[in-house]
Amino acid sequence: MKKISVEINAADRTAKINPELYGHFAEHLGRCVYNGIYVGENSPIPNVRGIRTDIVEAFKKIKLPVLRWPGGCFADGYHWKDGIGEKASRKKMLNFNWGDVMEDNSFGTHEFFDLCEQVGCEPYLAGNLGSGTVQELAEWVEYITFDGVSPMADLRKANGREKPWKLKYLGIGNENWGCGGSMRPEYYADEYRRYQTFCRNFSGNELFKIACGPNADDYYWTEVMMKNLNEWHTRGISLHYYTVPTGDWNKKGSARYFSDEEYYSTISGTLRMEELITRHSEIMNRYDPQHKIGLIVDEWGCWYDVEEGTNPGFLYQQNTMRDAVVAACNLNIFNSHADRVVMANLAQAVNVLQSLVLTDGKNMVLTPTYHVFDLFKSHQGGEAVYCYTENQTVGKGAEIPMVSCSASVKDGKLTVTLANCSIEEEADVDISILGFAAGSAEARIVTDECHALNDFDNGEKVVPKDFAASINNGKVSAVLPPCSVVSVIVS
Ligand code: AHR
Repeated sequence: MKKISVEINAADRTAKINPELYGHFAEHLGRCVYNGIYVGENSPIPNVRGIRTDIVEAFKKIKLPVLRWPGGCFADGYHWKDGIGEKASRKKMLNFNWGDVMEDNSFGTHEFFDLCEQVGCEPYLAGNLGSGTVQELAEWVEYITFDGVSPMADLRKANGREKPWKLKYLGIGNENWGCGGSMRPEYYADEYRRYQTFCRNFSGNELFKIACGPNADDYYWTEVMMKNLNEWHTRGISLHYYTVPTGDWNKKGSARYFSDEEYYSTISGTLRMEELITRHSEIMNRYDPQHKIGLIVDEWGCWYDVEEGTNPGFLYQQNTMRDAVVAACNLNIFNSHADRVVMANLAQAVNVLQSLVLTDGKNMVLTPTYHVFDLFKSHQGGEAVYCYTENQTVGKGAEIPMVSCSASVKDGKLTVTLANCSIEEEADVDISILGFAAGSAEARIVTDECHALNDFDNGEKVVPKDFAASINNGKVSAVLPPCSVVSVIVS
């Protein structure tokens, strides 16, 4: 057992934690949308207008705040007008990014906004800059948000939606350095400026426009964006970073069968998020000291080799306790950078990469990652507070800090979330709290052996349980088992 001290100063409020830090992403990829979220109105699986009821309920339970759609790489090949009107006559397309399967466009703009309304979350659209036109994107905004008589508003009404929707988050392109057009940053910045000019604020709707940002440690991309864009052009710049256990994109490693060394290299790789955010923020701080432009980590999570026997273009992978620890480490990092990071979206919500939910026909399981979002949900909308961990080092091959931690205050309660990243040793954690009268502590835990997972034979192997944390003289103490994620709510 290793001793760890955490110091929290609840009077030192560092930033508001935007609920959107707990956001998600659904792409037209594999079984995320079709045969995942969307089963169609005639499906025997319970649904509302084709959208699976059990998935909506699961999303509501974790207070899913924002959903990004329709891609990903899919976004820069997507033409929104193909996805409106009579379903039978919608134009089909080839999903050339993801397995060359036929996309029938039966899930389009109306279905996506219906999903967001059912969940009660903000929609976040990724617009097509790579293969679309300025007019096409401008008309999408008009179609969705214009309240009055106009060609696009009339088309929306003819398709059954009288009142406009609210649309806040609008991404203009995705990974335009790669699948979104292989652009150089200087060229993209100019294109972005042109596109965003024609995306208007109609009828009281205010767009929060987001520019494509860097891939992982491409600091030059961020520098060029910040030099060429200001807060009138953009409110956010995205960052994509995936955790690949082996660091080798040709042989990423298995989601469920991995050695101790691979476990630690995964956690070490995921903790790189701290350095990436810090260094991109340093660049942003030079151009935008007042933090008018946010960093939007709109793709993150673990990316493994696909499950054996599944379509390689569908990116289906299982999800273990290792992923739960990864999720907790990243969410703690986002909380502690909430002054600059204003949204983050795990890739992806259902059946793709590090999912919240896996489905097989009518069956659905919640992954260990899902349960971490459940444990962390009370951070949403809170104020992050100073939290310092006097850490110990653990690991095999890769050395990592043993405990990850963050804290926030909301409605007179202090939420502290911790992960013990060691798979061998307990962490004996003492949390000293300043600036907050700690009277009682309620704790919950997600823990198991690091390969443990939920599947269709046993969907309840890894679930949150009540956990004992004690309070003595305002100090909270708990012994965290190896490979565990804990939330403590202090009141
Ligand atoms: O999430 C899968 C893919 O990863 C997305 O489509 C793309 O943006 C990224 O490369």
